[in-house]
Amino acid sequence: MILSIPKLIDRDTVTSIRSRLDASDAPWVDGRVSAGYSGAPVKLNQQISEVSQLAAEAGDQILSFLERNPLFISFALPNQVYPPMFNRYGEGMTFGNHVDGGVRISPATGRKIRADLSITLFLADPSEYDGGELVIEDTYGTHEVKLAAGDAIVYPASSLHRVQPVTRGVRVASFFWIQSLIRNDGQRSILHDMDTAIQRLNATSGDEDARRTLVGCYHNLLRQWSET
Ligand code: NI
Repeated sequence: MILSIPKLIDRDTVTSIRSRLDASDAPWVDGRVSAGYSGAPVKLNQQISEVSQLAAEAGDQILSFLERNPLFISFALPNQVYPPMFNRYGEGMTFGNHVDGGVRISPATGRKIRADLSITLFLADPSEYDGGELVIEDTYGTHEVKLAAGDAIVYPASSLHRVQPVTRGVRVASFFWIQSLIRNDGQRSILHDMDTAIQRLNATSGDEDARRTLVGCYHNLLRQWSET
């Protein structure tokens, strides 16, 4: 399942992160430094050095919003989050079809994180560039994604995806991965549907006994399926 999260970070934070990323001394490097042997030949973009102070500080700003976003928590059931990275695509830059690596090693901590979900947080508005759509192919078909600055898309890291060539302007984004408590996409999706139903019952004061039973089922499934 794919989920878009409108306004994951607010406008002020977009502006503050962009001013640092757009500065002339920002530590941009060739994007191929973090690509595997299959991704490198199709990857043509730039990234902020993962070990820079800028990546750490801007990443923390993003994570502080992510941690208190109820929609994200319900959908992703996060266990570990890879430190956010930042990329940009100028004219002619692109990232061809690929599947993200299954396990990433955080350069900051040396810790291994299984990539169950990928996130792209858009940091440039669609008016700033042409092309640059994120195209995701999953079992439900092909999805073309281009969102406002501050909006994010969460999708299975197992899906084939690409970034279309940018033909005007610059596409700036943050991207990173989530290790979920629930490895299986189908199980995670059932839990998200149940949680959404429970939240509606909470808001509409439905049958209290039925609501309590449903909450119990949710936690008992979470107990059976989760890995911590
Ligand atoms: Ni990717």
